[in-house]
Amino acid sequence: MPVAVGSIVYNPETMLRYFTAGESHGEALVAFLSGMPAGLKVDQAFLDRELWRRQQGYGRGGRMKIERDTAHILSGVRDGMTIGSPIAVLLENKDWKNWAESLPVEKGDPAKHKGVASPRPGHADLAGALKYNFPEARYVLERASARESAARVAIGAVAKLLLRKLGMEVLSHVISVGEVSIENGATWKQIQALQAREEILLSCVDAEVEQQMKGEVDRVLKTGDSVGGVFEVVAQNVPPGLGTYAQWDERLDARLAAAVMSLQAVKAVEIGAGISAAASPGSAVHDEIGYQQTGPFTGFTRARNNAGGIEGGVSNGEEVRVRGYLKPISTLRRPLQSVDFATREPVKAAYERSDVCVVPAAGVAAEAMVALTLAGCALEKFGGDSITEILRNFKGYLEQLKNY
Ligand SMILES: Cc1cc2nc3c(=O)[nH]c(=O)nc-3n(C[C@H](O)[C@H](O)[C@H](O)COP(=O)(O)O)c2cc1C
Repeated sequence: MPVAVGSIVYNPETMLRYFTAGESHGEALVAFLSGMPAGLKVDQAFLDRELWRRQQGYGRGGRMKIERDTAHILSGVRDGMTIGSPIAVLLENKDWKNWAESLPVEKGDPAKHKGVASPRPGHADLAGALKYNFPEARYVLERASARESAARVAIGAVAKLLLRKLGMEVLSHVISVGEVSIENGATWKQIQALQAREEILLSCVDAEVEQQMKGEVDRVLKTGDSVGGVFEVVAQNVPPGLGTYAQWDERLDARLAAAVMSLQAVKAVEIGAGISAAASPGSAVHDEIGYQQTGPFTGFTRARNNAGGIEGGVSNGEEVRVRGYLKPISTLRRPLQSVDFATREPVKAAYERSDVCVVPAAGVAAEAMVALTLAGCALEKFGGDSITEILRNFKGYLEQLKNY
């Protein structure tokens, strides 16, 4: 556990630390990533591709047409390599020019302020205004907005590059949009094929179901409503032994659940077949164990993976599968009932340009959170200050598994 002396925290719980800053319509978003080892090649095009993926999907609002995110790395990377120093990434908000006078840093002209007069149900507007004692919700939504998740995707991409060095890959796909859902799960091959696409519709592995999902979005577009859904993040080639049951907050399932739940609009997280397992007998749930001479990490095999690759808070060598359940988008073109902040009179909730469906994009943001979590666990297990040192530790551990 961390020990605080004055304002300095010794023994922080995680080696990999990160946080973000920035308002939705402010000048820029910034993400900080501290604890990455030296010597990791950073591929700028990969960061930008990940940012592009987060901006795609059928049902996104007008903003995605204005923004084309690019990751501007400010620190921690030199000559295309990490140098062990904190990494700071800046994402410019292209829309800032239209907001500079409404959201000035210095004291501005109150007439130019774009207040949000009535809190929107399902947003942080009311709770945030009450908490921070704002007379209206502009500054609340500026930070509560999922625009922030772009900053996480930028540093999540760096975490993915580290995981790749250790043979791990993290991707996502969409399980359902509204009431339309794929029948069976998706194989890793199918998910990989999705990621290679140059056009992202709803990131569903089944083309026919994807068209039905599009129909769900069209339906709510017509009625001024919105829709949610479920995405699944899959981490491939995760070795057994990440995370631990030794402490409640070191369990991999707990860490992944918190990481994915922290994304805007995610209201439930499922590991493996967690939800259906609750209604099934144990014999139908637990993944029977077999043995053969060789395997990716050990000779132990599983007939299925209902556990989602985690048992007792420890990765067990199977694919790690995490699902996020998204509520429907809160901003509605046909707004719900609210109250005017100033007069307390009943009014329709304020409307800001908005997406109506973000399930594929949320999946991409969740990939970043899963990658950051797994990278943190990997650094704790194989830790070292350089990639060379980490790879040496990693290979030694793989050898130990092989000889088990
Ligand atoms: C990628 C992504 C994009 C989002 N875009 C919007 C949007 O355009 N309009 C909206 O009302 N909510 C959007 N949301 C959801 C809200 O940010 C979120 O529901 C709101 O901040 C309240 O937080 P909570 O749902 O986590 O309680 C988006 C969420 C994600 C993950």
